[in-house]
Amino acid sequence: MKKNSKEETKSKEERYQKALSKIKCVLRKETDRVLMMATISALLNNEFDYFSWVGFYRLTGVRLLSVGPYQGELGCLHITFERGVCGACARTEKTVIVPDVTKFPGHIACDGGTKSEIVIPVFDDRHRLIAVLDIDSRQAAAFDEVDGEYLEKIVKIFQKR
Ligand code: SME
Repeated sequence: MKKNSKEETKSKEERYQKALSKIKCVLRKETDRVLMMATISALLNNEFDYFSWVGFYRLTGVRLLSVGPYQGELGCLHITFERGVCGACARTEKTVIVPDVTKFPGHIACDGGTKSEIVIPVFDDRHRLIAVLDIDSRQAAAFDEVDGEYLEKIVKIFQKR
């Protein structure tokens, strides 16, 4: 059990506020992207029970993403821009929320138990795409605009480095 009973009563917004403050505080002097991605994955995974996989796919080639730091079961190693929810996010450079992965054409099922997913684009200080943040859930329709809003705020930390 990750949370105590007091923690259970927190709203999603409160959890994100807490995660955002902690991430900003812990990473305030850091510039190494791998270190930052690993820390963000761990803190988010610890805070949210409904996250089953949290991690980054980094831009490593022409229209190619490769897995970076993550928490969860074995993820796909490489994803081209043409494939999956991560590819759609990298192509459009917009947050993609998928309430039901079975209805998303080309969804890549790394974990057969995944029911819904959110993917956020990550930019550097010159607004160039450097990665995507992929979060999966075994709950249907687990993600909404609140998740999108806060996760976009969290990945802004990469623009200040
Ligand atoms: N489901 C993702 C692939 C990555 S894994 O789920 C960790 C997608 O469709 O892009």
